[in-house]
Amino acid sequence: MTKNILVVPGDGIGQEVTAVGKKVLDKIAAKFGHTFTYDEALIGHVAIEATGNPLPDETLAKMKKSDAILFGAVGHPKYDNDPTAKVRPEQGLLKMRKELGLYANLRPIKLFDELLSASSIKPEVLKGADILFFRELTGDIYFGEKGRKNNGDTAFDIAEYSRYEVERIARKAFEAARTRRKKLCSVDKANVLETSRLWREVVQKIAPEYPNVQVEHQFVDAAAMILIKDPRRFDVVVTANLFGDILTDEASQIAGSMGMLASASVGDGTGVYEPIHGSAHDITGKGIANPLASILSAALLLDISFGMKAESEAVISAVDQVLKAGFRTGDIADAQTPKDKILGTDAMGEEVLKRI
Ligand code: IPM
Ligand code: MG
Repeated sequence: MTKNILVVPGDGIGQEVTAVGKKVLDKIAAKFGHTFTYDEALIGHVAIEATGNPLPDETLAKMKKSDAILFGAVGHPKYDNDPTAKVRPEQGLLKMRKELGLYANLRPIKLFDELLSASSIKPEVLKGADILFFRELTGDIYFGEKGRKNNGDTAFDIAEYSRYEVERIARKAFEAARTRRKKLCSVDKANVLETSRLWREVVQKIAPEYPNVQVEHQFVDAAAMILIKDPRRFDVVVTANLFGDILTDEASQIAGSMGMLASASVGDGTGVYEPIHGSAHDITGKGIANPLASILSAALLLDISFGMKAESEAVISAVDQVLKAGFRTGDIADAQTPKDKILGTDAMGEEVLKRI
């Protein structure tokens, strides 16, 4: 197959890890006889520096034309500490999601057995945990009206969902549950929020169309607790944008480290594949970032956007073998890890490439 991939590294460690993810795609192309062509584009802080715009028109045009997007991260501490900044790197990310219609954010939380001891949760609670989150990505409090009133002394962000928006993400989650352990947990705050009551109503209404899927509803506070207490209870979880943002950071600890988790954002057009971790400016440029989330994002890209199952499996299996061989980046190493097995970003990438 011939495919055109847009590489959008963004900010901070996004640059370092995405370079490794791209090498993995290259290796797959060579191994399986595909032709992947690449283009690059700016987003986030680097785009603001170059053009004044966190999502330049040129980037958006390239995104719409490409077959898939390998994405890094956006963000810069300079804006985090300046609540008055009018232009922010994250605006680029949010606009991309909206413009590309990326309403479904899939975040698989899967623990490689070798990393059981890397998590701060007890191994016996964790072993076998395997959760697929469907986070709604283009609605909710993220995209509703926001502003200030009373001379700026009062601020508001409106959370809004339409039936249609809930139904399309819920259907994706039901369909995924059908191919997995056939359990779907819908997470909301229907005891307080009107958007959540609509959410629950819609999920309940379409549930009978998926008779083999067992549905449960949880309030978000309880779900946050169960995630740590008994993560194996969950199979597929579907939830709103803000709840999904928070719960998936929490759930990343089930997989040992944020540095292990990949995500896919899909919807109406080109799919975007990115680590769930951020730009991590504290470790940027040190060459120690874990590239496995970007590598696993490349695996999701191959599977979901290109339908290349064997290719995707080859990547995941290579990561598994590298972990079995004892190699670790700093974030997933523990006291037992020998010093010579702790690798930097590029060396970790090389170990994966060797095994593809
Ligand atoms: C994520 C991130 C983003 C979000 C930020 C960077 C805007 O935390 O993708 O989870 O909140 O969606
Ligand atoms: Mg987040």
